[in-house]
Amino acid sequence: MPRKITAIVLGAGHRAVLYAAYAQQHPDELQIVGVCDLIEQRRRQVAERYGLNPDRCWASATELAALPRQADVIINGTMDHQHVPTSLPLLERGYDMLLEKPFATTEAEMWQLLDCVRRRGRKVVICHVLRYAPFYAAIREHVAAGRIGDIVSVQAVEHVSYHHQAVGFVRGKWNKKSYCGSSMLMAKSCHDLDLIAWMKTGVPARRVASYGANFQFRPERAPRNAGTRCLVDCPIEADCLYSARKHYIDHPQRWSFYVWDTLEHLQNPTIEDKIASLKGDNPYGRCVWKCDNDVVDHQSVVIEFADSATATLNMIGGTSKPSRSIHLVGTLGEIQGNLEDSAFTIRHIDPRPGHEYAEEWVDLNVGGDMSGAFGGHGGGDMRLVADFLRVVRGEPASLSTTSLEDSVTGHLIGFLADRANEENRSIAVEYR
Ligand SMILES: NC(=O)c1ccc[n+]([C@@H]2O[C@H](COP(=O)([O-])OP(=O)(O)OC[C@H]3O[C@@H](n4cnc5c(N)ncnc54)[C@H](O)[C@@H]3O)[C@@H](O)[C@H]2O)c1
Repeated sequence: MPRKITAIVLGAGHRAVLYAAYAQQHPDELQIVGVCDLIEQRRRQVAERYGLNPDRCWASATELAALPRQADVIINGTMDHQHVPTSLPLLERGYDMLLEKPFATTEAEMWQLLDCVRRRGRKVVICHVLRYAPFYAAIREHVAAGRIGDIVSVQAVEHVSYHHQAVGFVRGKWNKKSYCGSSMLMAKSCHDLDLIAWMKTGVPARRVASYGANFQFRPERAPRNAGTRCLVDCPIEADCLYSARKHYIDHPQRWSFYVWDTLEHLQNPTIEDKIASLKGDNPYGRCVWKCDNDVVDHQSVVIEFADSATATLNMIGGTSKPSRSIHLVGTLGEIQGNLEDSAFTIRHIDPRPGHEYAEEWVDLNVGGDMSGAFGGHGGGDMRLVADFLRVVRGEPASLSTTSLEDSVTGHLIGFLADRANEENRSIAVEYR
């Protein structure tokens, strides 16, 4: 029997509560023994679900860190700009940690966290859930086995759908760096930068360049006569692709966890409650062309690695279909596929007469473990928790394990890419 790990949920929002649910599926492996959140209602909900007494509920990370260690680990699902300030005192207190991405909002914060983790010898695993999606995990295994030789180039593309773009980066809580601490590149595509760095494991990045801007979600591009709030003063709402009614009322489940945050005090908000909220001061009722967003809606990043291999990431928001794709070119062959297909092609050079290349289709839908029990992000969410627990128990790390130390390159590339874009130059990567 594996040793049971005890955990405290810190930041009992959407993400941490999701990871904590692993304890309900595997009570022999993980037990939630405490909750810490600024919001009383969120503390109460977690306490009810896991049978916690009031003395196991804390109102802030500072309050918790002032006490002797109360559990083996912390599941830290606070927002981006709260990750480092909440983590430092708890790591000093001796907890290991599952920490959401982006794990820092500046380079300085990142080094500060890494320094603390190295000094205190703590185990910190970052929620780079896509490393655990069968699609990327299988590709990484083929790369590690040398199937395509040494990687010369990585091309990654993330298409952020029109509804995801609007909810997250135009109307929502990642729409301003001054508010959430993160650029869109770091909030959304730090996963893809991490995947690129992971495919090139062991090779440091050398230089980064980047271009990006907010192309369409600004007042100058608003359709003629557009109002300021979809359900209040907009005569063109019925014809608008970004109508809040179409996105959040006609699709009641889509992004409901962000849009109806302000109705959390109601047990089961009705359609009338929701419409009243969108007509009132709910930020998700705003016209997408007339918000206070200042992050990009598209950005391209170019990376050069120390072995002269190159990689590109194209992040494009506002697409009709959400998708992620990757194309690796190695000295012996190629791997190419889309996450949504959960399948990819491996190509090998075949110089024999009458041949050009050989192609193998790897379909993880057939025989691969795509079990729904493993949750979101292409199956990555719950696998990540299982791996984190293995790391904490001192078992050998998996190929996917995303320790803080191992996650630095992807984040560093992201911070430098944003700086390169702002300063209109390429930037040399310096590690510490
Ligand atoms: N891994 C992924 O794929 C993925 C996907 C979506 C979001 N995220 C990340 O997950 C994180 C959490 O997002 P969310 O939407 O769940 O956030 P959320 O706003 O729902 O929850 C954050 C919670 O932290 C609490 N909190 C803040 N400061 C605190 C403090 N000092 N002490 C105690 N509690 C505190 C807040 O009260 C809030 O309840 C973000 O960083 C986000 O970028 C990751």
